[in-house]
Parts: sequence; C-alpha cells; structure tokens
Amino acid sequence: MTLKNIFFSFLILFFTSGINAQKVSVQKKSLVGNGIAEFIPTGFDKNLTPSLILAQEPVQIGELPGSWKLIPEFIVKEGKAGASLKLTGNISLYGGGEVTGPLLRNGQSIKLWNTDTGAYSVEGGKRLYQSHPWVMGVRDNGTAFGILFDSSWKAELHTNSDEIVFNTEGALFRIYIIDRQSPQEVLMGLAELTGTIKLPARWTLGYHQCRFSYATEQRVREIADTFRTKNIPCDVIWMDIDYMDEYRIFTFDKNQFPNPKKLNKDLHDKGFRAVYMVDPGVKFDENYSVYQSGSKNDIWVKNPDGTDYHGKVWPGYCTFPDFTMPRTRNWWAGLYKDFLATGIDGVWNDMNEPAIFDGDLPENQRLGTMPYDTPHRGGDNLPEGPHLLYHNAYGRLMVEASYKGILNANPDKRPFLLTRANILGGQRYAATWTGDNYASMEHLKLSVPMSITLGLSGQPFNGPDIGGFLGNTSGDLWANWLGFGAFMPFARGHACNGTNNKEPWAYGEAIEKTSKIALERRYRLLPYLYTVFHNTSVTGLPVMCPAFFADTKDPDLRNEEQIFLVGENLLVIPAFANKPTLPSGIWEDISLVDGDTNDAYQAKLKIKGGSIIPVGKIIQNTGENSFDPLTLIICLDEKGKAEGKLYLDDGDGWDYKKDDYSLLTFVAEKQGNDVLIKISDKKGKRNFEKDLNKITAEVIINGKKYKGNGTSKGVIKVRIK
Ligand code: NOJ
Repeated sequence: MTLKNIFFSFLILFFTSGINAQKVSVQKKSLVGNGIAEFIPTGFDKNLTPSLILAQEPVQIGELPGSWKLIPEFIVKEGKAGASLKLTGNISLYGGGEVTGPLLRNGQSIKLWNTDTGAYSVEGGKRLYQSHPWVMGVRDNGTAFGILFDSSWKAELHTNSDEIVFNTEGALFRIYIIDRQSPQEVLMGLAELTGTIKLPARWTLGYHQCRFSYATEQRVREIADTFRTKNIPCDVIWMDIDYMDEYRIFTFDKNQFPNPKKLNKDLHDKGFRAVYMVDPGVKFDENYSVYQSGSKNDIWVKNPDGTDYHGKVWPGYCTFPDFTMPRTRNWWAGLYKDFLATGIDGVWNDMNEPAIFDGDLPENQRLGTMPYDTPHRGGDNLPEGPHLLYHNAYGRLMVEASYKGILNANPDKRPFLLTRANILGGQRYAATWTGDNYASMEHLKLSVPMSITLGLSGQPFNGPDIGGFLGNTSGDLWANWLGFGAFMPFARGHACNGTNNKEPWAYGEAIEKTSKIALERRYRLLPYLYTVFHNTSVTGLPVMCPAFFADTKDPDLRNEEQIFLVGENLLVIPAFANKPTLPSGIWEDISLVDGDTNDAYQAKLKIKGGSIIPVGKIIQNTGENSFDPLTLIICLDEKGKAEGKLYLDDGDGWDYKKDDYSLLTFVAEKQGNDVLIKISDKKGKRNFEKDLNKITAEVIINGKKYKGNGTSKGVIKVRIK
C-alpha cells in the first residue's frame, strides 16, 4: 500500500464517519491465550495500524466464552479511531508506562506522543518519552485484568474509575484483554503478548556512574580510580555525547578521547565496563563517513517532497535513519561492529523520540519532532505510513536495530542497551531510564511510583537518574535518593552538564560514607537481585513491585507508593517514607552492612516471613566472587518454615541456555531449638558446588539474629535458643 492510498483510506473513513462519533462493530473476538481475548473491529487494516507492540501475531485458540465480561466498544470520530470500556465495581487502576503522578491511576489522563520533556514539564508531565497503551485493573477480590491497545498512533489514555478511554489520531486498532486471577498473572499474560526482557548480564545490575560532561578521557579515569581508591562499589562508567567528534555518532574526539581502545581496556582491567551513547541524528556533513554511507544506502527519513528531512540536534543539522525500513535497520546494526571493537560493553540510545531542537512544534512545545505527515517508507510487515503512526515506535525500531548490531558484533555476550524512547513491547530490546528528572525532593519521591508503574507496564529494567539530572543536587538529596535508589532495578547516578558534581564522594565525608553503605548493600544483594531478574526474564513479572503485591486483597495497600518490593521477599522503605502502609504478616528488619541501620538516609529493608534471601559478600564489582561465603537470610513463617531461590550462571554469554545454570531452592524448617536448612530442589546442570564454597545461614526471629555455617552439600543447622 502506498502512502497516497493510506491517506485516501483515511479520507474515506473521514467522510463515511462524518463529524460525529460512529460506533464500529467488533468483527472478530476470540481467545488467543489462557484468559486473553482479542477484539478486532470491523474495518481494521494492518496496513493502517501495524502492530509495533506484540512479540508475535497471536494465534486463535478458541471462541470467546459467553461469560466473558470485558467487552470494548470501538468508535470512529472525524476519521480518528478510539475505544472505551466501561468498568463496574471498585477497581484500582495501574499502568500507562512512563508516567508522572500517582501509582494508582484512577482519574488520570496521559498523552501518548513520545516527547523530550525535561524536568517532566511538558503539559504538566502528562506526556513523557515513552508510550505504553496499557491499563491494568485490580478488583476488590484481588482478581485483575489488563487492556492492551495495539496502536502506535498518537493517542490519549484516560483511566477513569468507571471507564477506560483510548482515543487515537489514527486508524482502527486491535485490543487485547487479559482477565486472570491476580495482577501478577495478568502481567505474565502481558509478557505472553509482548515478550519479556532478556536475562541481562550480571554486570548491568551493578552501580552505574554517569554524567553529561565527563568530557575527557582523563576525567573518566579519575572517576573510575576514585571509586577504587575509596572502595565504593561500581561496575560501569558511562560516556555521554562528550566522547564524540563534534557529536558525530560512531566517532571519537581526537583530543579528548584519543585512544578509546586503551581507555576501555584500562577500565576493564580495573573491573569496569564502559557504556557509550549513540543518538539517531547523523550530522549532515558530506565528509562524514556515516552520513556518506547512509546517503548511499538511501535510508534517510524524507520530507513529503522526497528531499531528505533535516533537523537540528547536538551536532547541528542532522539526517535521521528511517528505522521502519528493514535495510535501514541492517545498515544501522552494521555500524556497531567497528565501534564496539574498541571494547565498548554497552550502548545508550538517547534522543530517539526523536527529539529535534528546531523540529515541528505541533503543540507549541519547546522541543519538537518531525511533522506529522513526514513519510516513513516501511518494508516487510511494516506499511508505508506517516510520522503520526510511527513516531511512538521510532525509538523502539531503533533499539531493535541497535540490539541486533550489538549482538552481531559480540555474539558471545548478552547485549546491554539503554533507551530513552520506547513503546510497550520494546522491553525485548532495551532497558530504560526515566529521562531528565530534576534534583528535587518532589522528583525523588516521584521516582518510586514511576519505576513501579513501568514495571507494571512490561518494562521491569528501569530506574531514574539517581540524584536528579537537572539542577544542583545537595548532599542531603543525593543521600536520600541513593539510600533507596540502590535497590531499584537499574541503579545509575547521572547529572546534566553545568550542574554540581554528583558522585558518591562529591558531598563531603559523611555523605560519602552513606553512599558507600548504600552501594555495598546493593552489592551484597546481587545474588538475590540476579535471581529476581532471572525470574523476570522468564515470567515478565516486575523486579520492583508495588507493596500491594504482598497482599492483593488488602485495600489499604492499593495506593501505597512510597515503599516497594524487590521481587517478592524484600521490602524497601525509603528514608523519606512518611507513615507508609506496610503489608501485614511477619516482616523482619535486616541489616546488610555495618552501620546501615543507624544511618538515617538508608532505606529500611525487611524480609518477608516464610522466605530466604540469598546475599553475597561486599564486592567492588560483579567480576569479583560474591559467594565466599553465600549468606542465606532466613525469616520463618508462622509454621516455622521458609523457602527461597538462588539462580546462578556465568553472568554473561549464552551457556545458560544450554543448561549451564543452577536454580536452587533452599528450604528452612524449625525443629525443636534448631532451624535446619538444605537445598530441596535443583534445576539446571551447572556444578554449583564450585560456585558455593561456604554458606552462612542467618535466621532472624523477632529482630534477633541466629547464625550457623555449612556448605551446599549437607544440612545447615542454626541453634535458635
Ligand atoms: C538527554 C538525555 O536525557 C540525558 O540523559 C543526556 O545526558 C543528554 N541528552 C546529553 O546527551
């Protein structure tokens, strides 16, 4: 279908629908999974609304049962498609992806039009960098449903308590509704439709240090060395645009970053990984090889008149790859080979809304993007279509190509990619952060529901700029933020150029000590965190979960947004939390590092009754051995029992897919005055005994700690009297 035909179809839709909203009947409804229904409206055309969200085309497995209650209504108004769904009963609403505002989404509205929105200021923070046309509802009885609007067209999502409304500025789309027994099961259903994150390399779970303006190789070395001399754990140093030659992507500044290979090698030798930024805009410069090869391959986004589209970003005027074309994605993937051969470990795709400084300003905003009618050429299963259709998927198509390029360049390693723009489903390719927040207490608090909501919207691997990106950060703010940010799935400190230094040691000795404790706590938790990430990569469940996951029937937990769970068993109560509602049942305080429980900035950590959390020792980076010893923190339930899992593998590469992993289940049981701990189940073929030399068990009862030692071979006994 040509672009002309697409507009022609719109015209027909416009005239046949008239000015008033017209109901559109459902042409097909069927079951496409356990408790997953597909609704296709009459007139739906994949050439007008291709799916940029689903991991694969759903397969019909049966008729929709007559008892199915959640039925959407489609409408077309002035040629624009929308849908709504009436809600009955008392429903707690969640989701919408990257959003500001409360965790509980009842009565909220957002715009889905990926936008560079510094300090979350554009339209009162209702429009951010990503689009997740997804809502989850939890009923009083703890059962839940989710609604996925399979459209990338510019849209608005209204989550009213009695009605969900999704209005687009494009053509008709499909809807998927999941109705299951719990919110957790609904999120697993979302993963069945849109995929999960891939198991990340273990180093990506360490602490990341970043700044826009680590402007010289010298400064990067200084930062890395300071972590090591001060014994503050860190795994990754990030290169923002500063390393580039006048912001030309895939190049290095000859003066400030003369020898990236040597720099990366030296960082590796000190136990660091290096992540480098790559933006989509390619400097319009006829002497620049990337511009030349892009032009030769005819991959640039064009204006409607067929000339190349130009827009200003960091390097001045740029051309932009049209990622809807398969040949563009292949070309882009190919650019990574030589680049990564310098020893780069991970990639950061930024500005990929795409943000264009002098771009069309459709809603009168400071930063713009391409005009709505900018054509994209498509290919394979993607039709030609205007920017209005593809804008929200631009970042997602870019990261698909980047992922492929990184994998092709280093096939034996797990790619690590961070993106600013994305759409629901894009978690398959990249982790994310929540863009340019502000160094304020307000944004600090906001970062908790934001990250939880992303996790409730299919993107578990996320976190904020710890400390706040824009504006100066005080020591107090930094320490507060790191005190709980250290437990977020993606833990990275980042700062804008022109702001004060924001490294753990930048605020004097006392805050440095606090920062060290916070990061040592994260590093001790790595065995648990990696196990949670493994589970997430299999099930799609979030890493950072809302408190109500601990008891989905407790109405008081539904809007608790100050505290969060990591996995199921660890509760994190940030220092700022003011009278949070805690889940009922047994929860014992835990201490991971000397002095942590006396430090006012550290989050309070609690272990759930009936669980076992595996933790390692304090290490400076994930390359060091965590398991000497492995410590099992144990909190018994009312019956005197506990259970917990530990996932182990090489930490990178793909051997785990050939069963070279261990998934161990530890169980503990009180017998008389002892608690007996042993491995009750082993999955995978890894010789885990080589990983686990010594095991220390710590049973916590009413705040008291009882210890015992052993190995992975026998039963460990802990005397509790
Ligand atoms: C915008 C990103 O959001 C920010 O994190 C980055 O530092 C700047 N671009 C400069 O590359």
